[in-house]
Amino acid sequence: METRRCKLVDNDADFQACVDIRLKVFVEEQAVPEDMELDEFETVSKHFLVTLNGKGITTGRLRPYGSFVKFERIATLLEERGKGTGRVLMECMMDYAERHYPNHLPMMHAQISALGFYEKLGWMPVGDEFDEAGITHLVMIHVPESEARIQNLLIWKGTDADPEIVEALKQRRP
Ligand SMILES: CC(C)(COP(=O)(O)OP(=O)(O)OC[C@H]1O[C@@H](n2cnc3c(N)ncnc32)[C@H](O)[C@@H]1OP(=O)(O)O)[C@@H](O)C(=O)NCCC(=O)NCCS
Repeated sequence: METRRCKLVDNDADFQACVDIRLKVFVEEQAVPEDMELDEFETVSKHFLVTLNGKGITTGRLRPYGSFVKFERIATLLEERGKGTGRVLMECMMDYAERHYPNHLPMMHAQISALGFYEKLGWMPVGDEFDEAGITHLVMIHVPESEARIQNLLIWKGTDADPEIVEALKQRRP
């Protein structure tokens, strides 16, 4: 039986497995320059790896970013897509984010080709399209379900959120 497992990376071998997936997907497949793909945030980020029968096939990372917790570098190997592993990863990362950064708003710069994937997982696009590494992106946020969590977001105390994000949240605020 196939077993998919998501783990928080805590050793060099698993980090290298994440990097290998990202090099295949973003650098080889999408032509993102390698020095942009691997950046100064690797050490401050929490990395996640989904394995299928022990082999790394999906990865992503997250890090606090002002009032936000930013999800980045979400990728499944080409030959493994469409089998539910991206969903396993995102649920695992969201669970971690909610436990460790309960007052940070989940946010990402999403490639528009992946918009439908994130929307299925409850993410919502905000604002206009923009270019990043030659690829069209949109900001997406994941609004917490609970009203208490929305009330406690750092966004209300800070000044680093775009007006569109504040407006989107206000519509959900009690
Ligand atoms: C986007 C990506 C991570 C999705 O990973 P995946 O492992 O194929 O996703 P899953 O199989 O778990 O898909 C979960 C659901 O989203 C849907 N989905 C997957 N990719 C989608 C897409 N690009 N657009 C719309 N829906 C999509 C699936 O059909 C599935 O729907 P279901 O639950 O109704 O069956 C993968 O396509 C990928 O690595 N793409 C290249 C890298 C990339 O662009 N990453 C995004 C950077 S922002």
